[in-house]
Amino acid sequence: MGEGSDDEAAPRVGTHLASMMTLSEVGIDFDRANAARIYDFFLGGAHNFASDRAQAAKIVAANPDMPRVCRLNRDYLGRVVRWCLAQGVDQFLDLGSGVPTVGNVHEIALRQRPGARVAYVDFEPVAVHHARQITAELDGVSVTQGDLRQPEVVLNDPGVAGHLDFDRPVAVLAVAVLHFIDDDLPAIFRRYRDALCPGSVLALNHGSADHDDPVLAESVRATERGYRGSATPVVLRDRAQIRALLDGFELVPPGLVDPVDWPVPNPDADPIGAYAAVGRVPDRE
Ligand SMILES: C[S@@+](CC[C@H](N)C(=O)[O-])C[C@H]1O[C@@H](n2cnc3c(N)ncnc32)[C@H](O)[C@@H]1O
Repeated sequence: MGEGSDDEAAPRVGTHLASMMTLSEVGIDFDRANAARIYDFFLGGAHNFASDRAQAAKIVAANPDMPRVCRLNRDYLGRVVRWCLAQGVDQFLDLGSGVPTVGNVHEIALRQRPGARVAYVDFEPVAVHHARQITAELDGVSVTQGDLRQPEVVLNDPGVAGHLDFDRPVAVLAVAVLHFIDDDLPAIFRRYRDALCPGSVLALNHGSADHDDPVLAESVRATERGYRGSATPVVLRDRAQIRALLDGFELVPPGLVDPVDWPVPNPDADPIGAYAAVGRVPDRE
């Protein structure tokens, strides 16, 4: 859709949205880097602007490992989706879904289970616009512009409430998003959990500097410094704080581990410095 070129003062959005709209008219802030577009840049996408690339350069200067971290994060997301499908969970509420790239949740889900349902939610206009563009013809996919910090609003949005059947298991995905949120996450996730029936799952990962390995811990602190000044600064939490987000869920083995080691240890990949886990809503007694 041409966002990669920000040399023009007001580049045009792809024709699907509205042929005469410009990116600034759909609320895009060109001047302030954000997590969605920086991540897109690290994954090799074209939906980012000069401000994002400048911030990415700052992040890589602080932590040269960041492109690998992003790729391995994305791999974790794919493994989680396949694991859910193998458990018979074929509805996904993807919070902080990001700019679509390769291996998107709906692609994995619809390929393996043609009747699968995916509700994408993100608050970033480029991510939302591009997701709408590539999924417009797909019955099983909805895209909602929303802020996951407002669970009531998200859960009642027609793109979520009208798209997913909460009487059947739903997988809530919160992957590489929670460390951008400086808020009462346990309270927010209690509300999401209360909307889920038994057999539903919450899958998350979250950056943390709480590691025995001082080099790994410092690389995560460096990443946090690299994001300073962006629209989405990083908030690091320790292992116990991340574990608390899964209160009320049964932790699926292997529990809370580095994303590269979920669901089985990966001796070929160094840890990326986050904690990942999948929790299951227990059966009612
Ligand atoms: C690093 S990307 C991760 C994308 C995807 N979940 C993945 O793992 O590949 C983080 C995404 O979370 C989104 N995000 C951050 N805070 C959010 C919020 N409060 N509500 C909704 N989305 C949010 C950003 O816009 C961005 O698209």
